[in-house]
Amino acid sequence: MKHPEIEKRIQDLLDRMTLEEKAGQLNQSGGSLVGAFDLSFEELMTMVQDGRITEEEAHKMLSDAKHDWHEDDLRAGRIGSYLNVIGAEEMNRLQHIAVEETRLGIPLINGFDVIHGFRTATPIPLAESCAWDTDLWQRTARMSAEEATAAGVHMTFSPMVDVSKDPRWGRIAESAGEDALLNGLYGEAKVRGYQTDDLTRHDALAACVKHFAAYGAAEGGRDYNRVDMSPQRFEEEYLPSYERAVKAGARAVMPAFNDLSGVPCSVNKKLLTDILRTRWGFDGMTISDANAIAECINHGIAADRRDAARQALNAGMDMDMTSGCFLDHVKELVEAGEVSMDRLDEAVRNILRLKFELGLFDDPYRSSPEQEQAAMLTPAHRALAREAAQKSMVLLKNDGLLPLKADLRIGLAGSLAFDRDEMSGTWSGGYRDGDGRSIQDGLDAEGIAYQAVREDQPLPDCDVFLCAVGERKAESGEAASRASLDLTASDIALLKRLKESGKPVVAVVFAGRPLCLGPAVECADALLMAWHPGVEAGPAILDLLIGRVNPSARLTTGLPAATGQCPTLYYDHIRTGRPAGVFKYTSKYLDAPVTPLFPFGFGLSYTSYRYSDISAAQTSDGIHAEITVRNTGDRAGDEVVQCYFRDPVARRVRPMRKLAAFEKVALQPGESKRVAFDIPNAAFAYYDQEMNLVTDDGVIEIHLGGNVRDTLQADVDYRHP
Ligand code: BGC
Repeated sequence: MKHPEIEKRIQDLLDRMTLEEKAGQLNQSGGSLVGAFDLSFEELMTMVQDGRITEEEAHKMLSDAKHDWHEDDLRAGRIGSYLNVIGAEEMNRLQHIAVEETRLGIPLINGFDVIHGFRTATPIPLAESCAWDTDLWQRTARMSAEEATAAGVHMTFSPMVDVSKDPRWGRIAESAGEDALLNGLYGEAKVRGYQTDDLTRHDALAACVKHFAAYGAAEGGRDYNRVDMSPQRFEEEYLPSYERAVKAGARAVMPAFNDLSGVPCSVNKKLLTDILRTRWGFDGMTISDANAIAECINHGIAADRRDAARQALNAGMDMDMTSGCFLDHVKELVEAGEVSMDRLDEAVRNILRLKFELGLFDDPYRSSPEQEQAAMLTPAHRALAREAAQKSMVLLKNDGLLPLKADLRIGLAGSLAFDRDEMSGTWSGGYRDGDGRSIQDGLDAEGIAYQAVREDQPLPDCDVFLCAVGERKAESGEAASRASLDLTASDIALLKRLKESGKPVVAVVFAGRPLCLGPAVECADALLMAWHPGVEAGPAILDLLIGRVNPSARLTTGLPAATGQCPTLYYDHIRTGRPAGVFKYTSKYLDAPVTPLFPFGFGLSYTSYRYSDISAAQTSDGIHAEITVRNTGDRAGDEVVQCYFRDPVARRVRPMRKLAAFEKVALQPGESKRVAFDIPNAAFAYYDQEMNLVTDDGVIEIHLGGNVRDTLQADVDYRHP
């Protein structure tokens, strides 16, 4: 929301700025690496390619390397923002140059990817989404903001709200899964948690919603790949999550790398101006993805860097992340009349507005090394990371082995069970090696005896095996697409070896994405999907395994039975003319089921729930539905009651089910609760063939229950008001 006083101050500055200074404000610099190793960047990459060093070693060398922040450019007013300055001292030093040594004294804004915690790494977003808990999502965002701002960060490139229906795509790890509503609610909670309602607070962090739009629909799950879909599908399944996060007040938006039906998002006026500004009224700033403006040349839509800058600016891009195209070409583009001064001024305004809103002009030094030191990894932060991990891990199978009985002798297998640093997951830039706690640490803390299972030695004499399998952190995230979602051959061999011993097996899966867990289901008596749980991985896993905490997480994406099911695995698939059945000529595979191994919304606990007495009726605002849920077991638990609907006859083919709402309810043993949902009329609207937003009169089916497969149904004869 524009503030008149701020707009006046922006105008005052604009009146005094040269064209070069305006171009400088549009430029985000990533600095460059110097002197830390005796190799060029290209040589380093060659070493990774030919296997002389691992990608992780290269990453470590890069992150340990010294940065050249191009202070001379900063002094000359050629840099408006930095990417990835870490540390209060370094940020204050650079801010000092911006404020004291540039002609106009405009402060810098420093952006960093704070994706799931900063120093205190919390579960990856895909994991945390499985908590179905907006309050938790907001609290962990607040904690991330407290730590990141103490380290000199002003803006995070989060939340990522890309609906992700294809687990081959490595960035599914950064999303809240396959559903639009969940991604939207997740994004909204994160924005609130990061920003608070007062951006001038020292611990308020500006949120940047990304990647606008539909990056998660990259064809084949291959990162950076094309996205091509009908406008109806785009509006109904992909756009709503961005809209919700933007309308929650996020002050920045990042267009995606991909093209959308042939137009790269970085130069996509329909997205950056028509939808974002005109339709949604967004008045924050847009910032490109890293180097994305220059990459429009590779897309084959821009002739050269100048052309790319022209197209991006005219489409509505404000800040250029690290490509330098704006810095190099804005002046000549404006002088040649190819970009209007009005458009340039608008971009500068959007950037200055955020700097004013954050209070950077009046209060540019927001932290100190002492504050930074005190903010990190506090006991309260560790406690919250542990709570988040407990609530994120999904119990998939339990043949009565869990909770583990006391005094069992454990055989601990799988290298991930001993690994602290793999627990943090992808995009954990603030994490420091050694901060994490492994399963082994968890057992030690509980005083539970174990013996390590070694590949080359006979199996230990134990009562139960606890076996960790799955992905390491570099196997998901950006540029980490996979063509196979199978467990590795060595993981499968290990599981089989343990099973053949005849002893019971608990398998814990670490992963940044859904994997095909068939072999783990076969070999293990109990199976916990732990994802990448963050610094408190081990203690939280033990809390669940020994039953101190009752598992309550539910999948926000189905888990595949076979990789070939992707990308049609998702629960809200539209209906076909020949639904899968026993008859040959139906929509199915010869060698795999069409349904996931574990459905959307699924998760077990140590108690059981029974649903009854569903009712649903139309109200003036939509449909009101109710159901009774009863805890029929002997332990207290949290159940996620899920509300889906289906429009069985419509003017365009509609999804089999659509999640409309959910509520997490706490139930004591024997306790029942009546859970009510109000689904607004707007939820039933969709686009017809001519892109008119329409709603049908007729039956709407309401499906309520504990996962998308197990629901009770009530029909409403719905009349559109
Ligand atoms: C990613 C963005 C991220 C940016 C800055 C890009 O490669 O796609 O999500 O915010 O880098 O680190």
